[in-house]
Amino acid sequence: MSDQYAVIGNPIAHSKSPLIHAAFARETGQDLEYGRILGNPYDFAGDVRRFFASGGRGLNVTVPFKEAAWALADERSHRAEIAGAVNTLIRLDGGRLRGDNTDGVGLVRDLDRNHGFRSPAARVLMLGAGGAARGVLIPLLDTGLAQLVIANRTHARALELARLGAAFGPVEARGFDQLDGERFDLIINATAAGLTGDVPDIPDDCLAQDGWTYDMLYGDTPTAFCRWGQARGATRAIDGLGMLVEQAAEAFWLWRGVRPETARVIAELRHPSQPIG
Ligand SMILES: NC(=O)c1ccc[n+]([C@@H]2O[C@H](COP(=O)([O-])OP(=O)(O)OC[C@H]3O[C@@H](n4cnc5c(N)ncnc54)[C@H](OP(=O)(O)O)[C@@H]3O)[C@@H](O)[C@H]2O)c1
Repeated sequence: MSDQYAVIGNPIAHSKSPLIHAAFARETGQDLEYGRILGNPYDFAGDVRRFFASGGRGLNVTVPFKEAAWALADERSHRAEIAGAVNTLIRLDGGRLRGDNTDGVGLVRDLDRNHGFRSPAARVLMLGAGGAARGVLIPLLDTGLAQLVIANRTHARALELARLGAAFGPVEARGFDQLDGERFDLIINATAAGLTGDVPDIPDDCLAQDGWTYDMLYGDTPTAFCRWGQARGATRAIDGLGMLVEQAAEAFWLWRGVRPETARVIAELRHPSQPIG
């Protein structure tokens, strides 16, 4: 039987992860199957235990279970420990579960390798202080950017994140209403506002000339925040599809010890007229 992997979340039907991992497996010649599990909000731990007891080798974890997966893991990587969230579970010899978080690597690789964003001297604004923002905080600071400002609707959560990041790089917290007169080379939207077509309430002129915008959300058409960036002259207005594929590639590497090519998978998800693989 092929090695079994899956993504667990709720909802889960929309997830592109099975498509992405099937393409990685074909490209690298790995013998595996990757499915979807609709997680029970009242018995996430039971769902995970049953999957691994039936021989599962690894799970990706998505909304709303990343914190629960963190709590469930027997051991955690440093980056998952700090993120307080786990999006990848790995079954170790003996059955122990290791938790990791590949979201930050996914974002940084997409920005750096796929789009050529160079961070030294960059002033970066990150909107949001939820699970996704927390997951990318340290990898983002590790890139050596000049300054990271975290702004969130609930100011206290931005402050907490900035405190967490302070040991790793120059970071401070603001409210959306404390950004007047500021200019940023890159604005990352890590809020869930786009799910309802909204854009965080930030000043119209806070994107620097030649600045970039990055929305962690993605869709078949430009997201509300991508349109916000385009309307304000962003040199690039990128969505989160590349981050999704890059975080998946890192999980694949953790599980299989093989690093898949991502460019073709991103291109084919972007233009689904041609099947992946
Ligand atoms: N591309 C990828 O691979 C990838 C990976 C992970 C996440 N994501 C995306 O990242 C986004 C955030 O996910 P998450 O897991 O961090 O969610 P989360 O933990 O629920 O956090 C939501 C964040 O959005 C803020 N927010 C929600 N509605 C808002 C609004 N109308 N205006 C302003 N701020 C608002 C919240 O602010 P408060 O603190 O004030 O509530 C909080 O900071 C989602 O769109 C998700 O799809 C993408």
